[in-house]
Amino acid sequence: MIVKEIQIAAYLFASILFILSLGSLSSQESAKRGVFYGIIGMIIAVLATVLGQGVAGHVYIIAAIAIASLIGVMLARRVEMTAMPQLVAILHSFVGLAAVLVGFGSYLDPHTQMLEGTERTIHLVEVYVGVFIGALTFTGSIIAWGKLEGKVRSKPLLYPGRHLVNIILLVVCVVLGVVFAGEEGVQGMTHLYLMTAISGFIGVMLVMAIGGADMPVVVSMLNSYSGWAASAAGFMLGNDLLIVTGALVGSSGAILSIIMCEAMNRSFFSVILGGFGNGPAAGGDAKAMEGEVTSITHEETAHLLKDAKSLVIVPGYGMAVAKAQYPIYEMVQLLRKDGKQVRFAIHPVAGRLPGHMNVLLAEANVPYDIVLEMDEINEDLPDTDVVMVIGANDVVNPGAQDDPSSPIYGMPVIEAWKAEKVIVMKRSMSVGYAGVENPLFYKNNTDMLYGDAKESVEKILGFLRK
Ligand code: TAP
Repeated sequence: MIVKEIQIAAYLFASILFILSLGSLSSQESAKRGVFYGIIGMIIAVLATVLGQGVAGHVYIIAAIAIASLIGVMLARRVEMTAMPQLVAILHSFVGLAAVLVGFGSYLDPHTQMLEGTERTIHLVEVYVGVFIGALTFTGSIIAWGKLEGKVRSKPLLYPGRHLVNIILLVVCVVLGVVFAGEEGVQGMTHLYLMTAISGFIGVMLVMAIGGADMPVVVSMLNSYSGWAASAAGFMLGNDLLIVTGALVGSSGAILSIIMCEAMNRSFFSVILGGFGNGPAAGGDAKAMEGEVTSITHEETAHLLKDAKSLVIVPGYGMAVAKAQYPIYEMVQLLRKDGKQVRFAIHPVAGRLPGHMNVLLAEANVPYDIVLEMDEINEDLPDTDVVMVIGANDVVNPGAQDDPSSPIYGMPVIEAWKAEKVIVMKRSMSVGYAGVENPLFYKNNTDMLYGDAKESVEKILGFLRK
């Protein structure tokens, strides 16, 4: 058992570590350190809570932590990088469920029954709001998981007047809340159950109305909700650390959702309210393609690379699918040894999750100083000899800049076409995630190199080594 003062100090220390962790996660160089801060902070938080005064049944707590940790480790080791959003979604559902259970428990707690007047009202509001956000997060996250996993159809479920229905349900929850706060003892439990069911239903309908294409933004939004649910649970339990941690998760999740929407040129509110269809963007059809598509062989590509002085590689979702990052880095090392300047250009939403490309390149040990963000590299592209687009499509679509009828018009893109020569490595002419044709493939200075990204890079490597 530790005394209250030590527990408060430990909570403060853990909060600082969580803030440092978030701060460090903002750059690749410090990201590992950030994860480490997070782990240490969490260990301190759990120990300070479990060893706190008034906590009983340590055997059960340790057994529960051990079993949960084992399941967590097994899941995290097994999950593919591309299935990470599903895992995150299902984990958020647990936070939501925990907030609901803490709310029920806190309401039934004899200590609550001893509260009077304003103090009791404030506590009941905390319980009610916590359970509301928790239930919404719980069901919404399960539907998001189902959509990403292909268990629930990803097409948005839209029906006329759904916004009105949601508003009416919200009003019913508010009315139930007022009645709940006025009930004596634990008589408000029925209202709490009823509101939980309604909130859970709102969570289902909100996420059902959003197309599969917008799910990553929704997952990040649910991340934010789960933070607020945890924060509310912190108020109920009088636990300052939970309040701070929940607020950190809540605000960082909201910021990430907004950043993702901006990078995809989507309206944040439209995504959250399910205003768009299944397609990731609104708008009409893009312009018909003009020009001719030309292709290049692996051997010709190798020659081109040998002759170039400056090279930029733009990776995309296809690189992740092909797991091409390892041979790509081998190729980069070879070219750099030859005195060439080789850099990577990363679009904020390349791939399917935030930081997807950065994680894959870090996995292959690519040094951070040659991995540049879109904004950092775009102005260098006119002076670049060769841009290799490897498994990327939407993030290099010039239509986003010059075709107002394109569904992705307005989305910031990597201006690959400004380089002297562009090689696009993909398997076919098929479209990317946004489902739009790419005029880049038809440009005079672009050649297509068809094939699986990994196999193609390995073939090029073979010619480079000769
Ligand atoms: P995409 O536009 O989706 O294009 C990927 C391309 O990779 C496809 O056109 C495909 O063409 C090719 N490909 C697939 N497998 C391949 C393989 N084995 N070898 C070589 N090429 C392969 O990808 P992007 O440029 O990275 O853009 C990302 C898109 O996802 C954006 O529209 C973005 O808005 C969206 N999005 C991103 C996120 C985040 S947070 N990153 C979240 C949600 C949505 P082939 O079939 O012809 O090979």
